[in-house]
Amino acid sequence: MTARIIDGKTYAEGLRARIAGHVARLQREHGITPGLAVVIVGEDPASKVYVSNKARQTAEVGMFSEKHELPADTSEAELLELIERLNKNDKVHGILVQLPLPGHIDPNKVINVISPDKDVDCFTPASVGKLTIGLPGPVSCTPLGCLMLLRDQLGSLSGLNAVIVGRSNLVGKPMAQLLLRENCTVTIAHSRTRDLPDVVRRADIVVAAVGRPRMIKGDWIKPGATVIDVGINRVPAPEKGEGKTRLVGDVDFDAAAQVAGAITPVPGGVGPMTIACLLANTITTASLINGLTPPKDLTP
Ligand code: GUN
Repeated sequence: MTARIIDGKTYAEGLRARIAGHVARLQREHGITPGLAVVIVGEDPASKVYVSNKARQTAEVGMFSEKHELPADTSEAELLELIERLNKNDKVHGILVQLPLPGHIDPNKVINVISPDKDVDCFTPASVGKLTIGLPGPVSCTPLGCLMLLRDQLGSLSGLNAVIVGRSNLVGKPMAQLLLRENCTVTIAHSRTRDLPDVVRRADIVVAAVGRPRMIKGDWIKPGATVIDVGINRVPAPEKGEGKTRLVGDVDFDAAAQVAGAITPVPGGVGPMTIACLLANTITTASLINGLTPPKDLTP
């Protein structure tokens, strides 16, 4: 069997087009322009690219977009003060502070200052609580993207065995909450899980989010399973020339694609969904802040 390749890039383009439609409707019917502020501290090149992409795609769907690039020696107090200002700014419905932050700034302090109403990353304890009990609010971007791709592939997920490999606050834990809400039987596996290959072999759905290149082997995959690879790992690629690198996921793609029913590639699978879901969350928070019901097609 050769798996269907799940094209996240094309799905994300369609999602952004739908988001642009929601932006136009909110402006036309309610006079609301959803706005997102992104904040970066320091000069990490990869983070700067991510943040620029986020700001650009925000503007492209017609939203108000604001980018704050702060020097690496910005004090914690200065950053907290900026966030307080953004909390009060009516043009801003979403605040994203790019992680990681420089070592002298406590990320938990920063996250706790972001208004839960504008927490488009779903990082604050209040947002995580809402997600867990199923109240309306922003949803962790990458897990929301994975869920949209899974629903698009499988329709109903009810009753399926889902194994998530990785227990991070960013992906593993919120992914488990979302899949539970879909009536999956959910297992969160991690570095201490015994007999990991056997656990993964029971999965109708595998979500790989461990951050270890090609760790999940082809013979761990149940025939016909749907495999969502969240990993983005840069590895040496001598075949491309000396010193060259390329991106691979947490799944051994070539081997898994021989067994799975459907699989996301890296790049071009989950990655493009994350920013699109950030924009979706900004529509959600802009709606909720203004007492409106968020669009159903952008929420779990
Ligand atoms: N750094 C890497 N991924 C993310 C993310 O999803 N949100 C934020 N704020 N920072 C990140």
